[in-house]
Amino acid sequence: MPDLFPEDLERWHYFESKLTNIFNSFNAVEIRTPLLESTELFSRSVGNSSDIVNKELYSFLDRNKESVSLRPEGSASVLRAVIQKKQEHEKHKLWYQGPMFRYERPQKGRFRQFHQIGVEYLGFEEGVSEYELISMILQINKSIGITDYKFKINHLGDADAKDSFCKSLLGYLEPHVNELHEKDQIRLSSNPLRILDSKEESTIELLKNAPKFEDFISKESKSFLEGLVSAFKNQCDIQIDQSLVRGLDYYTGIVFETVSGELGAQDAFLGGGRYDNLSKQLGGKEMKSIGFAIGVERMIELMNIDDLSEKIKVGFIVSEQQINQKTYKIANDLRLANNRIILDTFLSGGSIKSQLRRANKCGCSFVIIIGEEELKNNQAIWKDLREEGGQEVLSLQELINQYINL
Ligand code: HAM
Repeated sequence: MPDLFPEDLERWHYFESKLTNIFNSFNAVEIRTPLLESTELFSRSVGNSSDIVNKELYSFLDRNKESVSLRPEGSASVLRAVIQKKQEHEKHKLWYQGPMFRYERPQKGRFRQFHQIGVEYLGFEEGVSEYELISMILQINKSIGITDYKFKINHLGDADAKDSFCKSLLGYLEPHVNELHEKDQIRLSSNPLRILDSKEESTIELLKNAPKFEDFISKESKSFLEGLVSAFKNQCDIQIDQSLVRGLDYYTGIVFETVSGELGAQDAFLGGGRYDNLSKQLGGKEMKSIGFAIGVERMIELMNIDDLSEKIKVGFIVSEQQINQKTYKIANDLRLANNRIILDTFLSGGSIKSQLRRANKCGCSFVIIIGEEELKNNQAIWKDLREEGGQEVLSLQELINQYINL
């Protein structure tokens, strides 16, 4: 569970602000749900047979002896909240962010506390919402400079198709149980579809002749999937992946993941799909829905932006003897005049030369220098630290005007 320091958070804030702008432009609005939920919520949604519920939940009994869990993902909570408010008949475009918890074996890119930013479109049946969410994802990736990735997509059919495929897969695998890797033998009884995701050589070999999803889904589903691929193939490397089933039980219909070779073994930085039956499964009315979640740590690792600071930074340098109420008020007036600028006051004093060095190191584009002479004349020096920048002496009113217009 890593700490986040100011230098990390500079990247995080940039990332979050890019995403928030995109969500706004799609008219998706934010929802916040609690970190702690009843354990039953996750067993009824993510599924008892999934690794997430089976092995990875942080669960404990509260003082009332009820089992509660730290949320491992956001979709179930968002749905629970909307059902609880009896708003299933409405359409919702929601986004959320925050920490999630999974007791997994930690490794590069895999944490026990990690963060997701997710989007859920509730009350939208298969169709335009798939197109809109994929457009949103491509826009997000582009906005933070991620270009080298694969967009894997599959169609799991409706619940019946998923079920028949599962039975057929079991029928094929059971006689070959001894050829399966040990891990996959366990999955055979708990969650056979996950065997398709296996990275084990012996299992991969056996799966070559296994039944394929495409033979179980309807013609309409197949052509919908192909339509999506053809619509986006000029914008990203989008490919149908028959073995993509995803690790959460609630999916039916379209599922997808974006992966990058730069991340190593944990290569998925975003995952999602449709979950039309989940609302009813959780005791609500029918609400056909689709969504996705970004693994923030992984995506920030991939973010490829040279200059993160969108805000201009100005250093406020005052010779040590002049740090007083008057100079403090000048800094305050500047901040009141334009709070979109970062005004860094070097409160520790030191010589003007050492403060200038510090301003350069902190990435200031300009500095304001006030020495004894300037203070006496109600003036300040405005110095441009960028290439070939000059300096000028301004009255305090001119200084404020300059600052407002930066
Ligand atoms: P998920 O694929 O389990 O889907 O998680 C989404 C993303 O969270 C992953 O692609 C990955 O980047 C990140 N992630 C998952 N576990 C970890 C971990 N232990 N450490 C670091 N990052 C991790 C869901 O959670 C679904 N709720 C997504 C969704 C929303 N489907 C529909 N709506």
